Amino acid sequence: MSAQLVQDFMSSIWRHAQEPPEGSLTHAPNIHRTIAQPDHAEHVRELNGLIEQLDTLPPTQQRLFAAAVDEVQIRSKLWLIDQLSSRHDIGSATLVVLGAWYGILPLLFNWRLAQPPARMVCIDISADACELGRQVIGQLYPNIEYQVADAMDLDYASLARDPSSVLINTICEHLPEADTWWSRVPVGQLAVLQSNNYDRCPDHVNCVKDLDEMKAQIPLSEMLYEGVLRLPIFDRFMLIGYR
Ligand SMILES: C[S@@+](CC[C@H](N)C(=O)[O-])C[C@H]1O[C@@H](n2cnc3c(N)ncnc32)[C@H](O)[C@@H]1O
Repeated sequence: MSAQLVQDFMSSIWRHAQEPPEGSLTHAPNIHRTIAQPDHAEHVRELNGLIEQLDTLPPTQQRLFAAAVDEVQIRSKLWLIDQLSSRHDIGSATLVVLGAWYGILPLLFNWRLAQPPARMVCIDISADACELGRQVIGQLYPNIEYQVADAMDLDYASLARDPSSVLINTICEHLPEADTWWSRVPVGQLAVLQSNNYDRCPDHVNCVKDLDEMKAQIPLSEMLYEGVLRLPIFDRFMLIGYR
């Protein structure tokens, strides 16, 4: 599925949740228009699958889910997928996604890649987030699992024993002790890390001002990629490499 279609489709879900009157997503004209374009025919079933699941939710839960698919969230995740998949063969990998929220990143791996990762485990400290993700996305994709856990307490040594594992942490800005967290990850683990400089969110207790500050906090022994995504009101930073 093209990045443009992913972006357009998710934006239409986000807009639908913002603009009353609420109603069925399946029959919302802007969503229907996005899906119904002739060159999207091969993806209709998959896209409809998601909106049918969303239509089973009450409006409050639809709005919660929609917050995870706004333009900035989707651009940041598409960037991660492009950069990781162009440097590492992830078709047979197990991805462990920390702070996965509803599991949008694994969903987009499935949509974007012809050979998506064999197994993707969404870790989140919020049982509600895991439950909603499982209900909407997990039901549709057998390669996406959910586990309620604190990223600070995971058994990273056993994760590292799986040579196919890739550790993804897109919540570095949420971890008050990111350096302590990193010290628990065994040397040699392939990891993808995102942080940002958006310090106006109260949950962002560990923003960094730039890539240098991020690299000092989370040092890698081998860097495969480092970059900045300029977003409308803040910058997102990403490192890919080996601990
Ligand atoms: C707002 S969301 C995601 C923002 C993030 N930049 C992203 O990748 O989309 C942050 C998520 O991280 C989760 N979270 C925060 N601290 C956590 C921790 N210590 N362990 C696991 N999940 C955590 C929250 O429950 C929430 O679902």
